[in-house]
Amino acid sequence: MAELPVLTERLVVRRFEAGDTAAFAAYRSDPEVARYQSWEHPVSEVDAARSVAAFAAADEGAPGWFQYAVALRAGGDLIGDVAVCLHNNRMQAELGFTFARAHQGRGYATEAARCVLDRVFGTGVRRVSAECDARNTASVRLLERLGFGLEGCRRGHTWIKGEWTDDLLFGLLAEDRAHAAERPDRQEIFACRPNLWVSDLTAALRFYADLLGFRVGWRWSDARSCFLDADEPTEPGTALVARDQVQIILTRTAGSHTTRLHLDVHTAAQVDRLCREWRERGADIAEPPFVRPWGMYEMRLQDPDGNVLRVSSPPAR
Ligand SMILES: CC(C)(COP(=O)(O)OP(=O)(O)OC[C@H]1O[C@@H](n2cnc3c(N)ncnc32)[C@H](O)[C@@H]1OP(=O)(O)O)[C@@H](O)C(=O)NCCC(=O)NCCS
Repeated sequence: MAELPVLTERLVVRRFEAGDTAAFAAYRSDPEVARYQSWEHPVSEVDAARSVAAFAAADEGAPGWFQYAVALRAGGDLIGDVAVCLHNNRMQAELGFTFARAHQGRGYATEAARCVLDRVFGTGVRRVSAECDARNTASVRLLERLGFGLEGCRRGHTWIKGEWTDDLLFGLLAEDRAHAAERPDRQEIFACRPNLWVSDLTAALRFYADLLGFRVGWRWSDARSCFLDADEPTEPGTALVARDQVQIILTRTAGSHTTRLHLDVHTAAQVDRLCREWRERGADIAEPPFVRPWGMYEMRLQDPDGNVLRVSSPPAR
């Protein structure tokens, strides 16, 4: 196996070092990052230093956990970690990953985990397993992107942060990886992300994030030609917001360019639930849900630029 560090397109995957302690403590202390994980936040500098020292001293090829530090090639900041637990038989392993919130939604976790999986499978490992909290949709999407198959759900299996939670079980075999690249039935176009033109990016983000509960994936500054850190104010440019399976890109552009988005929801009860949730958050539901002449149960609202969001499901039976 080649020595660490390994360079990917945008990242450095390397061993942990003492200088990583502050960044490690910071992202592991973020309640959002710790939400579905076993550790308690905040993570003190002392505990972080102890963990980092243990990671730095671990043997990559030996059975047990090895923690890869992931840093940006540009600037060298530590942005997350990918963990692998090699089984005693050296033919099976477990995978885990944790990334700082400011560096999520940019494909860094995918890029780093692919690099680590290349290394792990490169040593002759034939199966990698992963588990995650069933509510952890970002983790599920990442595992699916990496080619993992869902193998089951252990309902009410883990007691974590005061509640019993469902665990999803995933697996990836060496042969799955080898075949995935050239499978003829592989979906090519697998998602469509509308790009809305908005006159005020800050107002649009407030609407989608604060009122509709979308997560802000990333924000880009046109003037500085860079992604903005979480604590920087929004600047004219582009941003991505996501909720469940839906991603919307918002680009600040002068003038009026309104459009309509159709958001598909599985059941009428979910449309009602979203209507209640968004009203409670202060959104103005321009047209509350009712069954339209074409048979769909639909509500409508408008974003600050006049884009119409049509949220619909089949009617209740
Ligand atoms: C799980 C976790 C690592 C996933 O991180 P992530 O940022 O969503 O994953 P990636 O870095 O691969 O980014 C993928 C997202 O970036 C978007 N993206 C933007 N630019 C991209 C690019 N160049 N390449 C790929 N994806 C890109 C993708 O569309 C995708 O968005 P989506 O998940 O909304 O569909 C992260 O949520 C995390 O650290 N959570 C806290 C710790 C945790 O729960 N760990 C898992 C325990 S099982």
